[in-house]
Amino acid sequence: MKHSDAISQGARLIRAGEIVAFPTETVYGLGADATNPIAIKKIYSTKGRPQNNPLIAHISDRKQLQHLVTSIPNKAELLMDAFWPGPLTILFRKQSSVPEIVTAGLDTVGVRMPSHPIALELIRQAKTPIVAPSANPSGKPSGTHHDHIQDYFGDSVFCIPGGSTEIGVESTVITVLGEHPVILRAGAISKENIEQVLGEPVQMALHTDDIPLSPGMKYKHYAPNAPLELISHTAEFQERLDQACEKYSFVGVLGSTQLISKLEIQDNVLTQTLGDRNNLSEISRNLFARLHAFDESKVKIILAERFPTDGIGQAIMDKLTRASEG
Ligand code: TXA
Ligand code: MG
Repeated sequence: MKHSDAISQGARLIRAGEIVAFPTETVYGLGADATNPIAIKKIYSTKGRPQNNPLIAHISDRKQLQHLVTSIPNKAELLMDAFWPGPLTILFRKQSSVPEIVTAGLDTVGVRMPSHPIALELIRQAKTPIVAPSANPSGKPSGTHHDHIQDYFGDSVFCIPGGSTEIGVESTVITVLGEHPVILRAGAISKENIEQVLGEPVQMALHTDDIPLSPGMKYKHYAPNAPLELISHTAEFQERLDQACEKYSFVGVLGSTQLISKLEIQDNVLTQTLGDRNNLSEISRNLFARLHAFDESKVKIILAERFPTDGIGQAIMDKLTRASEG
């Protein structure tokens, strides 16, 4: 099927109340018509997603905000000018017409305009905003290649194929509705990027409270099947690896080219290289695909390298930390 045929097929399915997987620049989404609660229900059941975790509405044109939000704060306007289309989700006060099931009962709705041409064209042809969580069973690594979608859902979900996604981790989620801007989820658009545009300090939400600002952050996430242990990029790694090789029949190592080239690797070790340690964009692009590859293997434990937390590094370490808590 040609790309253009797959997109029109996807748009037809969305209009008919079905769910469709599609590529964005961050990760693949599992989309449904944002105005159709019955279609949206299928997203929750397909993913096994908790009902109290709200969805992001994806738009292709700012005019679509009219039907979703009650007002557009100045700060949101600045962020849209700077980062849309792109990997930034902004919270707005929602209109009462936005179905409850989209926002899980909250009075805000998260909106983003993706930059991926397939995602934009799908939304245009479907003629409706599309709500879409990441295309993975709840708790599993997000899909970043159409093969992952096939592995996860088989033929039960129609997927518009788009190869590997460029960024590899989900969008940054921000609210400017309170006194200070707060990042609810780290992504490719960093705290520093946003501070530069808004000209004021931006906080990172701590997700230790009973009621986290972004409900999705409290769930177990990104967990590969095998337990994952984080280790600093030092001599400590070799020592831990040797111990693990004695204890386990099959050991996974997830790290940069720099780390892996320095290690002495025994026969019962599967290494997955994330890329150049000095290029965190490359590391983030490969992260979920490598975690997914470990799930296809039978490793008993994964030893993973820690990365610096500047820029997109914050998102990388956030995913790895959650994977280690899985
Ligand atoms: O890059 C992305 O954002 C991808 C692609 C497909 O666009 N989507 C994605 O969706 O990651 P999902 O559902 O996997 O994650 C959405 C996150 C969750 O942590 C959710 O709790 C939070 O955004 N969220 C959505 N709406 C919210 C709202 N109104 N208030 C607070 N948090 C919200
Ligand atoms: Mg997700």
